[in-house]
Amino acid sequence: MGGTVVIKWGGGLITHKDQLCTVNQTVIDQLAKVCSQSGKKLVIVHGAGSFGHMKAKKYRLSEGRIEGSEQDDAVEEVRSDMIKLNQSVVNSLQSHGLSVKSYPPHKWARGTGPDFSGELPVHDHVTVVYGDVVDDDDSEFGILSGDDIMLRYATELPDVERAVFAIGGVDGILRLPPSRAGPDDLIEIWHPGLEFEGEHASEIDVTGGIGLKAARGAMMAEKGVDVVLVNGEIPQRVLSAILGESVIGTRIISGNS
Ligand code: IPE
Repeated sequence: MGGTVVIKWGGGLITHKDQLCTVNQTVIDQLAKVCSQSGKKLVIVHGAGSFGHMKAKKYRLSEGRIEGSEQDDAVEEVRSDMIKLNQSVVNSLQSHGLSVKSYPPHKWARGTGPDFSGELPVHDHVTVVYGDVVDDDDSEFGILSGDDIMLRYATELPDVERAVFAIGGVDGILRLPPSRAGPDDLIEIWHPGLEFEGEHASEIDVTGGIGLKAARGAMMAEKGVDVVLVNGEIPQRVLSAILGESVIGTRIISGNS
């Protein structure tokens, strides 16, 4: 079977981002299908989209405990909403014949950002984890992004072949925000020295948008991991990216090479 491919399914890709807790079943099923076709050992890290960001934003969960603010119910609700989204992902993968095990991060990870603690769980075929509300030593709780979890798996598992970010609505990193970009604005090879004008919907997102993916991708590339961002709505591209074939998208390089 060879090495492991670590792949992020962006939350904006697998949910309808503007409708609270609504899955995009078509996309989830397409992704599950290409994952099964790939024949690879996989770590799938999925995002939250409308199962996480809306309530997390409203109750300011990424800021941790705020004195005098009612946040406990929201912490539990977002955790249980994420379990529901995760269940849709796992069900779809299983219905495509994959042997899957899912590990909710609030049960094994502590702290936020790339240096969170906790041993990375691994199943021998398809491992599924996701961005979650986790406990934190300083601020009681916080939001651990799937992008940070990706970074750790991609750089710490011994047999990683490559890392793939499947994202929604765009072909990769664009020079301009998607609303203003044209067909020539796809950056095919990106490194941290190359500026781009990312759009980050901070009024919706509690984590870092495309900028965080680019930054974490560069940290992976720095450690020698091949990283590519592709349009997750086009199954053939996701399959090619998993298999390491050349594909329309953005390859991330460290910039030191
Ligand atoms: C966010 O995780 C987790 C929560 C808001 C609970 P991600 O940062 O991985 O999610 P997406 O991909 O942006 O939706």
